[in-house]
Amino acid sequence: MIGLFDSGVGGLTVADAFAKRVPGAALALVADQAHVPYGGRPVDEVAAFAAAQSDLLFEQGAELVVMACNLSSAVALANARARHGADRVFGMVEAGAVAARARTRRGRVGVLATSGTVSTHAYGLALAALEVTEVACPDFVPLVEAGDIESPKSKAAVDRALAPLRRADCDVVILGCTHYPFLLPTLRLLGPEFDFVDPAQALAEGLASRIRPGPSRMWTTGDRLRFRSQLARWCPKLQPLLGEARWCEGRLLVDEAQAAD
Ligand code: DGL
Repeated sequence: MIGLFDSGVGGLTVADAFAKRVPGAALALVADQAHVPYGGRPVDEVAAFAAAQSDLLFEQGAELVVMACNLSSAVALANARARHGADRVFGMVEAGAVAARARTRRGRVGVLATSGTVSTHAYGLALAALEVTEVACPDFVPLVEAGDIESPKSKAAVDRALAPLRRADCDVVILGCTHYPFLLPTLRLLGPEFDFVDPAQALAEGLASRIRPGPSRMWTTGDRLRFRSQLARWCPKLQPLLGEARWCEGRLLVDEAQAAD
């Protein structure tokens, strides 16, 4: 079983990539919707959320944990690897950087990410030999969580984010937040000249031999029924048991996951 976590529905884009690579993949996913968005929070707070979610997923029997959240990957991966083993915890940043390096022809890579991830310069550091333009997109996560991916408001936010990448003459653009693949139709519409890299695709490919089929479970720290309808809209093929999780003195506790109501 692969464990995954994110602040919200972003984790579903990574789960979906794994389930497409290995149909029926056994996944356990936490969506920390009580704290979404992570992007504007202090990085120490996000690192603590990431550590607790990694611990929970290993307790629940995950063989490996994927930080399906770029900000967590940027600030909490090293610590989780030290605790659980380097070959048992994976992040988005390394996979995204390797894929972008292979695909850029001009050596000019754009990164769209949350303010938190941009503040760490995780992608800039991972791609140090290239010209990297990192753009913070604070509007994107709230828009995606609200299911708004094609309205004039979301189109304006996408247009604003792409402008600096156009000026920097980037050819490849990394989706440096797992929520952003849901905006791909709008990103492709307004930025047809860019090759968009979704790090989850590269990660699913790299871990394919370790993904096994089996039942899946998901928990949200937010509202289970709302998460169920988000899941039905975004990833109807994923049909996990669903439960709620609660934060208690820095630890995460989960209810028994249940079938659809
Ligand atoms: N989806 C997460 C990421 O990849 C976090 C988004 C947020 O909650 O700000 O960074």
